[in-house]
Amino acid sequence: DSLAAVDATVPGANRTQTRLNETPVAPVGGFDNTPDTDSSLPANIRWAHDIAARIPSSELGLAGIAAAAVHSADEVETLVAGARASQPAWQAAGAAERARVLREVARELAAHRGELIEVAAVETGKSLDQADPEISEAIDFAAYYAERAEELEALQGAEFTPAALTVVAPPWNFPIAIPTGSTLAALAAGSAVILKPAPQARRCAAVIAELLWAAGVPREVLILADVAEGELGKQLISHPSVDRVILTGAFETAELFRSWRSDLPLLAETSGKNSIIVTPSADIDLAVADVVYSAFGHAGQKCSAASLVILVGEMGRSERFINQLVDAATSLRVDLPTNLAAQVGPIIEPAAGKLAWALTELAPGETWAVEPKRLDAEGQLYSPGVRVGVAEGSRFHTTEFFGPVLGVMAVPTLEDAIRVQNGTAYGLTAGLHSLDAAELKIWLDGVQAGNLYVNRGITGAIVRRQPFGGWKRSAIGAGAKAGGPNYLFGLGSFAPAAAAS
Ligand code: ALA
Repeated sequence: DSLAAVDATVPGANRTQTRLNETPVAPVGGFDNTPDTDSSLPANIRWAHDIAARIPSSELGLAGIAAAAVHSADEVETLVAGARASQPAWQAAGAAERARVLREVARELAAHRGELIEVAAVETGKSLDQADPEISEAIDFAAYYAERAEELEALQGAEFTPAALTVVAPPWNFPIAIPTGSTLAALAAGSAVILKPAPQARRCAAVIAELLWAAGVPREVLILADVAEGELGKQLISHPSVDRVILTGAFETAELFRSWRSDLPLLAETSGKNSIIVTPSADIDLAVADVVYSAFGHAGQKCSAASLVILVGEMGRSERFINQLVDAATSLRVDLPTNLAAQVGPIIEPAAGKLAWALTELAPGETWAVEPKRLDAEGQLYSPGVRVGVAEGSRFHTTEFFGPVLGVMAVPTLEDAIRVQNGTAYGLTAGLHSLDAAELKIWLDGVQAGNLYVNRGITGAIVRRQPFGGWKRSAIGAGAKAGGPNYLFGLGSFAPAAAAS
C-alpha cells in the first residue's frame, strides 16, 4: 500500500530515486517532513506525515520552494524588473525555438511522471487514479502549445506582440496540470512568467519549475516566486508592470485581484456549479458511473465536478437510478493516497463553512440517500454523500461546495431540467445523458456552459479535444479556452502588420 509501489506500476517511474535537486536543505516553513506529530504543521498535510514515513524521496520540492521564498517588497520589485528585462530575448528567439523547448518539456515531464505523482500525493493528498491523468494533461499542454506557438508566428496579416510579463496564479486542486499548462501557454506566446504557487501546492510548483528549467526554459524567463498571501501577493498581482495574470481559482479570488487593480488584465477560470441531466432514454449503467466519477473523483474538489444530477420524468419517478447510484457511491474506497486503491481521497482542509454545512445538514424537503460519514479526527476524510429532494433555487442548487457531496433533483421535463441546469450564477461544465437525438438538440439549444459533455462524465477535459473554459461567473477575460486553439491569442495583442511596400 505504500506509494513506493507506484514505481513498479507507472512507466518511467522507477527513476523516483533520482532527486530533482540534490542540494541538502533544512525543512522550511510548514513543510517539515519529520514523520511525527509536530504541532507547527498545518492540518492539511496530515497525509504528508504518513507518506513521508514510507518513501525516501518525500523532500521533493522542498529545496526549490525554500530558494523561491520572497520576503520583501524590494524582492518583488527585483523579480518583476528581472523578468521583464529577460523577456525580449525569449521573444526574439522565435516560435520554433520556444516550441523546441516546450517539446523538451513534454519529454522531461514524461520522464518524471513518478515524482510528479508523488509530490501531488505528498503535498495535496491527491490519489494515484487522479494524479496520473494530470501528468498526462501537463504533457499534452506542452506538446499542444508548442504547435500553437508556431501557428501564431505563421499567422498572416497581423502582428502578435506577447505580454512581456505574465503572472501565473494556479490552484491547489490540479497542482501539476494547471500550473504547467498556464505557464507553458505564456512561455509559448513569448512572455516571461512569474509563477506564484498556490499556498497548498508550493512544492508541486517547485518540482514543475525544476523540470521546465532542466528542459531548457531559461531561469530568468520563468521565475518561481513563493510570495506569501497578503501585502506581497497584492504587490505582485497588481504591479503595473505585469501585463497578464492567469488565475485559476475561486470567483471571489478573481474579484479580490480586481479590487487591487481595476484594470487588471486578467484571464481567469473560476468557480462552477455543475450538473448532469439524465433523461428516461439514458443508458442507466453508463450514467451512474459517469455521475459517480464526476461527483466524487478527487473528493469533488474540481471546478468541473458534478454537484447535481437532474432526473427527468420517469427517470426520477422510478427507484432504479437512485438505487444504483446509492450502490455505486457506497462502494467507493475512501482513503489517503498511501492506499493506492483509494478512489476518494482527503479534502485539502478540514471541512468548514459551506462545505461543513453540505456534509452535515439538510434543507427542508431534503433527505440523505447516503449520509456522508466523517472517517478521521481532523475532518478531512468523508465518505461520499448523496442528498435527494433538492429544490430549485435552494442553497444546494446554487452554491459551489467543492467536496464529496452530490444532490439529486427530479423534474417533469427536459425543459425544466435545462432551466435548473442554467439556474446558477456559473456556467462551467454541463452534462446530458440521453440516447435520443431530439433531446440532444433541445439541450444543445438551451444549455449555457463552457464545456458540454454528452454520455460522458463532465470532468477531465482533454487538451485539444475539449478546450476548457466557462461562461458567466466561471470565466473572466478573453473567453479563450485552455488547451484550445485561441488560448495564446489572449496572452498578447494584435496589430495590423505593416503594409507591404
Ligand atoms: N480541466 C479540469 C477538468 O476538466 C478542471 O476537470
